[in-house]
Amino acid sequence: RAVGTGTAHAKAILFGEHAVVYGAPAIAVPLHQLEVETMIRPTPGSELRIESELFAGTASSAPEVLRPVITAVRAALGAVGAVGAEEMQAQLRVRSAIPHGRGLGSSAAVAAAIARAAADLFGTELDADAFHEIVQRAERVAHGNPSGIDARAVSAAGPIRFHGGSARPTGVGAPLTFVLADSGVPGSTAAAVAGVRERRAADPVRMDRAISQLADIAEGSVLDLELGDRSALGSRMLEAHALLGRIGVSTVQLDALVEAARAAGAHGAKLTGGGLGGCVLALAESEAQAEHIALALRSTGAPRTWTTTVAAA
Ligand code: MEV
Repeated sequence: RAVGTGTAHAKAILFGEHAVVYGAPAIAVPLHQLEVETMIRPTPGSELRIESELFAGTASSAPEVLRPVITAVRAALGAVGAVGAEEMQAQLRVRSAIPHGRGLGSSAAVAAAIARAAADLFGTELDADAFHEIVQRAERVAHGNPSGIDARAVSAAGPIRFHGGSARPTGVGAPLTFVLADSGVPGSTAAAVAGVRERRAADPVRMDRAISQLADIAEGSVLDLELGDRSALGSRMLEAHALLGRIGVSTVQLDALVEAARAAGAHGAKLTGGGLGGCVLALAESEAQAEHIALALRSTGAPRTWTTTVAAA
């Protein structure tokens, strides 16, 4: 094929972020409306060229933030098996609707879309493990020590329960409408994860208690999801947000957004992803109420909000 194309979508972590790095289970939901599309075209005789919203030019002059992207291209072309593919000269185009540095899995989604484009280019299919490994290689460059949840979630059709490196679909007994609010502040997942590691080394008892409570919340939420129990899920979200604050990844601004969502009638709200900036996720009773919550979040400073309804895949 002359050109390969691939897509992937954003994700939001509902429960278990950070604790998942220490082996806890976690729940993630897909955000299908925030999609990334990639195109790879072999271009003999020239270096890897990247065209994206962040940067256009050759890989060797690309900024640091694109290192995971370059890793993904090399890993994906290598994995699809063509002789010399890892060194192959190509043009990569990335069109992403996923804001970067907002805890929505943009780096994993770009890598997943690249893996799909490389497989499409060579007319092959990657098995789930090979695919996961390509995304994880890029994620290691982006975040240092990724649990693998983002890599699984950005290619899953529906909500997943992630544990010990693998993911399985989780049931959702009733459609759940979430409002996602961008705090407008980028959060570095790598820095947030490193901060938790340092605080855990300094105060293991207190940190491990919070991490195990976050694990219990995630585990217990599986039944609430299956039952479609919004009220129970909302309480768990508020509890999880407080614990994420305790392990040091919330901010005054994220707390204010959670409080605004709650005051506007949300069942619950919490930061989602790495924290220290990024996004807040709120659970609404209905799509009509979601509009009201979104308005409240925007008037509390969120530059943009999205509404998504999650149902079983
Ligand atoms: C990032 O989306 C979730 C974190 O738990 C990091 C990870 O799992 O690799 C903060």
